[in-house]
Amino acid sequence: MTSFVVSSGGAGYGFLVDDQGRLRQAGFGPDVDAHMQRLPAGIPPALYPMAYPAYDEEPTRAPSLRVTHSDGTTTTRLKVEDVREVGAETTVLLTDSDCPLEVKLCFHAEDHGVLRQWVRVTNRQPGAVTLHEVAAASPLLAAASPHLTHFGGGDWSAEWTTTVEALTPGTKVVDSRGGVQPHLRSCPYFLLAPDRSAGESDGTVLAGALAWGGNTRFAFERTTAPTVRIWCGHNPATAEYVLDPEATFVTPEQVWLWSTEGVGPLSRRLHRWVREHATRDGDQLRPIVVNNWEATSFSFDTERLLGFIDKTADLGAELFLLDDGWFGDSHPRNDDTAGLGDWEVDQSKLPGGLGPLTARADERGVRFGLWIEPEMVSPDSTLYTQHPDWVVSQPARHRRQWRNQFVLDVLQPDVADFVLGVVDRVLGENPGISYLKWDANRPLTDPGSPTLGADRQANYWFDHARATWRLMETLAERHPEQTLMLCASGGGRADLGSLRWFHEVWLSDNTDPVARLHMQWAASHFLPANVIAAHVTREGDRPVAFGCAVAMSARFGFDLDFAGLTDEDLIVCRNAVALYREIRPLVQQGDLWRLEPPSERAAIAYVSADGRSAVLFAFQLTRRTNDTEPLRAAGLDPDRTYDIVAIDLAAGPDGTRSDVERRAGAVLMETGLEWPLCDPCTARIWVLQSS
Ligand code: DGJ
Repeated sequence: MTSFVVSSGGAGYGFLVDDQGRLRQAGFGPDVDAHMQRLPAGIPPALYPMAYPAYDEEPTRAPSLRVTHSDGTTTTRLKVEDVREVGAETTVLLTDSDCPLEVKLCFHAEDHGVLRQWVRVTNRQPGAVTLHEVAAASPLLAAASPHLTHFGGGDWSAEWTTTVEALTPGTKVVDSRGGVQPHLRSCPYFLLAPDRSAGESDGTVLAGALAWGGNTRFAFERTTAPTVRIWCGHNPATAEYVLDPEATFVTPEQVWLWSTEGVGPLSRRLHRWVREHATRDGDQLRPIVVNNWEATSFSFDTERLLGFIDKTADLGAELFLLDDGWFGDSHPRNDDTAGLGDWEVDQSKLPGGLGPLTARADERGVRFGLWIEPEMVSPDSTLYTQHPDWVVSQPARHRRQWRNQFVLDVLQPDVADFVLGVVDRVLGENPGISYLKWDANRPLTDPGSPTLGADRQANYWFDHARATWRLMETLAERHPEQTLMLCASGGGRADLGSLRWFHEVWLSDNTDPVARLHMQWAASHFLPANVIAAHVTREGDRPVAFGCAVAMSARFGFDLDFAGLTDEDLIVCRNAVALYREIRPLVQQGDLWRLEPPSERAAIAYVSADGRSAVLFAFQLTRRTNDTEPLRAAGLDPDRTYDIVAIDLAAGPDGTRSDVERRAGAVLMETGLEWPLCDPCTARIWVLQSS
């Protein structure tokens, strides 16, 4: 075989094998069959770039793979040994015959045009090899004017900050570090438009996502030739991996999706795939959550929490989530300096334990959720006193605290058993719990473990991420009835690999609705609304009605001190809950149409799969000074006539809803709705229904 294609929905790779048996890449794009048919005749395969160049194979470009072999050889030469297609999976086996090494490039064609890709490296040498860099994927694509969109603010509370930039000659690296909460720094997602920046409904664009809960790296290598090579994988910085004879190293998976019709269709297809394949129970509606963290921090007692549970029921919300601070019997967690690891209820704060709380929740028809941070320990805890050797550390170094805590070394079997045992015990003792928020509030430092030999401490970065996944997977398997939220100091873990065992992600600790609107917009390129937990808080001091509207455009909830709200604001919250119950199937399962990006104003719509119903959200962010354009809908059926109800959550119990009129889908999309908002931080919601 000298040429073959690996694709999903027509998009993917075209490969050639040259006369030396080396794998060459002849195309990577949205219509690869047509591309391969158009390849100019007479050009020998050897003139095409290498598909997965090992170190020294393409000396002027960054390698996909760099290995030091057991005899000290630093170069690798790979030849195609086999290409196998079994169902949706294609495996290309490459081998180095001088320094026996197997490299399998693995591809899986998925629904909705998604292509998953990863690499397996097996050491066939008598001694250990060192893997310095192993890309999960490293395609080369034709790109006359490449524009990259990447997401991340570099730190806590700035997750999903969007940057769009034209790639210029050189290498642009977008990477993340920190081990436990890497995506605080940079989200493992990007968009690349090869020819110019793509619009919502026009232009060719590629979505890339690395499904990895550890450190990630994307590198975009551009030359003056109209090409970009994209290196995707776990971050190799400080993480060279020692691989024993006959052992196999499996990279994280890279997820690809192409669109030739802009980013709107790309996101809608990806949302379906994420709901169906990349998160738990993606077809089920998520509850409306009341969380106490932003309202109480660590200061609460049973009475106060019962008040929250009652308020959850009174509002019509469906689940109360008790956050940090409920545990630490002999080292009470009254602030972040103590108690992590001691997962016994703090009886001085909550006499009688969680029982009275879960009982009240049950009585009021509300589900009960609990916060845990199982990977961590406070130095001021019984656990640390008993097991100081359970923390991630290096023997000669003073242990570094971060938020007054250490990371548990989950590579140690006793530690892994302890973590799972804690969850089993807490859930066993409190059968009323049906939701867990898994948090992680510090990065990994002093990476090292006695479970790894002195010559392979750098394996820690990779092995720690895999070991943490095993815990998450086991928890999800043992407790399938639990709804799970993924959180790490905010959105520090937000990848499509970790999400497999979770229902939703906490996007950021920045809950100012103006900032959240930008973050939700950014995240919506990849994640559907049912995965994005969004709670109303007082951060930013914005009107509650505006905060509600922003949160209602994702998985809705509250983090409010209801006792401090005015009667008017409580009515707003109650109306918001009632409305969300009505529109929830649309928001959580409908198709997203991004109408206007956040600037002076913003708008999105969710439309049912059959086009019969829709909900439109309009947000005014800054004061409007002149006449303004109408809001043009999208995604509707042009031939249907829709009944339109306008909702202003701030208008009080009587003025909340007003019938606008009936209009044809075509009119709504061409002429639009009059933009009704003027004041900053106001919102309007329209519900559209056709028979
Ligand atoms: C960080 C999370 O993002 C917050 O929502 C909250 O759970 C705190 N940790 C608790 O310590």
